[in-house]
Amino acid sequence: MKAIQISLPASLENLRLVDVPDPAAPGPGEITVRVRASSLNYHDFAVVSGMLPCAEGRIPMSDGAGEVVAIGAGVTDYQLGDLVVSTFFPDWLDGTPPSTAFTRVPGDGIDGYARELITAPVTWFTPVPKGYSAAEAATLTCAGLTAWRALVVDGQIKAGASVLVQGTGGVSVFALQFAKIMGATVIATSSSDEKLARMKALGADHLINYKQVPNWGAKVQELTGGRGVDHVIEVGGSGTLDQSMVAARNGGHIALIGVLAGFGGPVATAMLMAKQLRVIGLTVGSRQQQLDMIAAIEANNIKPVLDQHFPLAQLADAFRHQAANAHFGKIVVDI
Ligand SMILES: NC(=O)c1ccc[n+]([C@@H]2O[C@H](COP(=O)([O-])OP(=O)(O)OC[C@H]3O[C@@H](n4cnc5c(N)ncnc54)[C@H](OP(=O)(O)O)[C@@H]3O)[C@@H](O)[C@H]2O)c1
Repeated sequence: MKAIQISLPASLENLRLVDVPDPAAPGPGEITVRVRASSLNYHDFAVVSGMLPCAEGRIPMSDGAGEVVAIGAGVTDYQLGDLVVSTFFPDWLDGTPPSTAFTRVPGDGIDGYARELITAPVTWFTPVPKGYSAAEAATLTCAGLTAWRALVVDGQIKAGASVLVQGTGGVSVFALQFAKIMGATVIATSSSDEKLARMKALGADHLINYKQVPNWGAKVQELTGGRGVDHVIEVGGSGTLDQSMVAARNGGHIALIGVLAGFGGPVATAMLMAKQLRVIGLTVGSRQQQLDMIAAIEANNIKPVLDQHFPLAQLADAFRHQAANAHFGKIVVDI
């Protein structure tokens, strides 16, 4: 089968399209999946560009969807040809987060989905939402579930709540979509007025260009009548957290998700305390949370927002497109 492997030192120039042996037939409790699509996350970019350490020959990409082509003994959940989508933490089925961090995450600590075939335990996958293509399903593993967990699991969002989403990447566009089905008012930020217009078309109620309005926290306060928002989808990290704290209401929730504007730095701890904020760090979610998200997607007919498609052989170009912030929503890889 074909796969992409990372040669060290990791860089976009060192992504190699290779022939590797097909996986073994599925054993008891396993399935073989013909992977048809993956999608790009910033985490995948961090691995392939050398920001995060990885092993020589690692197959990148945490997200994968495709059809079941062989079924091991004892597996009753699927028929041949069913579409399935991967989970970000293959061993985290339910309950509290695992202590393995990224060591068991496909495309990071173990091989990922930039390949045609995989044989793995059936619990590494879930069914896809009804009517979804493999490309659509392959957006859910990381970005979709992160947005779902931030708002619904950790945030316990209520109808009538207000939500701030930052930028127009994979997580933030999903967060907008989930916030709207939960009956929230959404304030969206972006560096691009054109992308803001697309957020408006998807249901965003208020728009802020964060390049033109660097003190966007105060603008959020103004838009909410001085109250601030209930939830912030914080994807910038240290470079945006101060403004997010200004934007949040007293006692509000900041879902600490991303590192787009820095991995660490000083935190205005006094403001955290004075505003009695709840800052909850999270990393994607469990298999059960993915199943809950898929039920909500089906009930509300949500479709992911797909940006460009790239063939597997052009994975490096797909990442260049992402690195240029040229995308809106999810970049897809067809395999
Ligand atoms: N903790 C987790 O479980 C988890 C899961 C998924 C992702 N993440 C993290 O969340 C972040 C977003 O991931 P993603 O996959 O959605 O990324 P992505 O699709 O690559 O999103 C990139 C977009 O973010 C926006 N952006 C960039 N810098 C920004 C800034 N300083 N302030 C506000 N927006 C900014 C830009 O939107 P505009 O072009 O509209 O300005 C850019 O197009 C990454 O740091 C990623 O590592 C974490």
